[in-house]
Amino acid sequence: MARKFGIFLTIFCILLTSCHADWNILNEQRTSSGLKISLKNFCESWRMNVELHNIRNYQAVPQECIAYIGKYMTSTQYQVDSERTISECILHLTTNCILEKDGKDSWIFDIDDTLLSSVPYYKKNGFGGNKPNETALEDWMSQGKGTALKHSLKLFNHLKELGVQIFLVSSRKEHLRSATVDNLVHVGFYGWKELILRSQEDECKNVQKFKAEARNKIISKGYRIVGIIGDQWSSIVGLPSAKRSFKLPNPMYYIA
Ligand SMILES: *[C@@H]1O[C@H](CO)[C@@H](O)[C@H](O)[C@H]1NC(C)=O
Repeated sequence: MARKFGIFLTIFCILLTSCHADWNILNEQRTSSGLKISLKNFCESWRMNVELHNIRNYQAVPQECIAYIGKYMTSTQYQVDSERTISECILHLTTNCILEKDGKDSWIFDIDDTLLSSVPYYKKNGFGGNKPNETALEDWMSQGKGTALKHSLKLFNHLKELGVQIFLVSSRKEHLRSATVDNLVHVGFYGWKELILRSQEDECKNVQKFKAEARNKIISKGYRIVGIIGDQWSSIVGLPSAKRSFKLPNPMYYIA
């Protein structure tokens, strides 16, 4: 009896140890300092450090966090976080006396996951857990099925009422221009000043450089950039900069 129990215990211990390596079964791990954490702790910290721009150039969401990121992107929390970002943009516009109202105040928006949500695409493509597939993504973009980020639409319309010129600067390529315009207009975005997309000669540059050059062109036409909003750091970092930059949450992918 005791021997049988001993064997049982041994098997149980082996199972327990092998399970311990698997987040999804025991849901517990340790950090490098030995702190005992849950999978949620691990993924929340990954997401936070992505947003803080401490984690960069990742090719895909870590496998163990795909479910967590999918849940976040479809959660009320994502909505609340995005709404807060937009509220801060509106606060900046109303409190900092930055508008000169001479037709040269301008604002820059990124498009994907700033105006148009690509969550419908990523929902079917592993929530950022798969390596990016440009062909599949561009196929989806050409169908014009991106949904409006409703808080961003509120800011967009607020800027129009204030008489601020709106520039859209996106890393989407020129061949997607008409599909992009159709998609934007269809979900309520219209009345921008200029839509700047990546031409063939821009394709060899990284996105950050392309976007900095686009800002340079806007400034050289006499506009003052009072704000930029994007979901990627590459949309807002580098010179020339705007008066203020705003980052929307997006842990699904990283564009350098
Ligand atoms: C990328 O997507 C295209 C179109 O959906 C598909 O034909 C191709 O196999 C995919 N490539 C990879 C590496 O998954």
